[in-house]
Amino acid sequence: MSIKASAYAHPNIAFIKYWGNRNDVLRLPVNGSLSMNLHGLHTHTHVEWSNTLSHDSLTINGVEQMGRALERVIEHLDVLRERYQLQGYAAVQSENNFPIGAGVASSASSFAALTLAAAAHLDLSERELTTLARLGSGSASRSVPTGFVEWYAAETHEESFAESFAAPDHWNLTDVVAIISTTHKAVGSTEGHQSAATSDLQMARVARVSERIAICKSAILQRDFAAFAEVVELDSNLMHAVMMTSRPALFYWLPASLAVMHLVGEWRREGLNVCYTLDAGPNVHCLCTSDHASEIANRLRSLDGVLDVRTAGVGGGAYLDN
Ligand code: DP6
Repeated sequence: MSIKASAYAHPNIAFIKYWGNRNDVLRLPVNGSLSMNLHGLHTHTHVEWSNTLSHDSLTINGVEQMGRALERVIEHLDVLRERYQLQGYAAVQSENNFPIGAGVASSASSFAALTLAAAAHLDLSERELTTLARLGSGSASRSVPTGFVEWYAAETHEESFAESFAAPDHWNLTDVVAIISTTHKAVGSTEGHQSAATSDLQMARVARVSERIAICKSAILQRDFAAFAEVVELDSNLMHAVMMTSRPALFYWLPASLAVMHLVGEWRREGLNVCYTLDAGPNVHCLCTSDHASEIANRLRSLDGVLDVRTAGVGGGAYLDN
């Protein structure tokens, strides 16, 4: 027996952030989140299930993986084996068209593509695929549906799913990423989620997140950039305030990150449609409308401390390619 499938998925950037779980094993987040998929960046993953293999294996861009990357994939395949009584082991080959250190995390696109390819023969609904992708990496649930996506916080595995609320062509938002550092982050998201509750500010952040989700969603639906910018920067600042006040403290910003954040505010006052958001790292995602993207990219490129700039529009959902 051998079953083969392959799938594509884009990474995504969150506007309202996922930070902290109510259940770390099931990755049930303490709050819902909103994001858009990033066009042009993708992970392509090929999975072959076979009962002649003696173990699971993983290559990324042709390089055989050991250690944590392989373990995480094995854990995800174990979940699929248990839930759907799958037999045998899997050979997983994954390619990213964006380098690690490109300022965009690859775990969302990786676990979304892996889930689609590994479960291709099970004929599952998109909703179920989002919940399975979530078990591999929380943000991966948001890379399965198309365009602008909401992932719901809930008490159970089945209820914490993601769905699209606007198609990619709904609004021409663009993510212009200012790359400040390409080195691997010292404390990854998984560890960060586990320490979120040690911050006295986490409860305050979560208390009004439903309000921010409603404001952000309606700003996107009405293409209201001013309202969007205000709530996106607030939510990013709230998450980083939690990170900085966790025990031990997590400081992801570098001096150049803060310099870019200040300039983005000035550029907005000048009339450019741009705002910032930062994930668990120092790179600054400058979200803008596409008409202002090349101006923002040029300005970022001229700054000391900005190593590179990468631009992505709104992407579609994950899909099987065979
Ligand atoms: C700061 O989805 O990478 O980017 O579930 O442990 O894989 P795991 O964490 P991950 O966390 C993403 C955190 C974030 C915010 C966000 O994307 O919402």
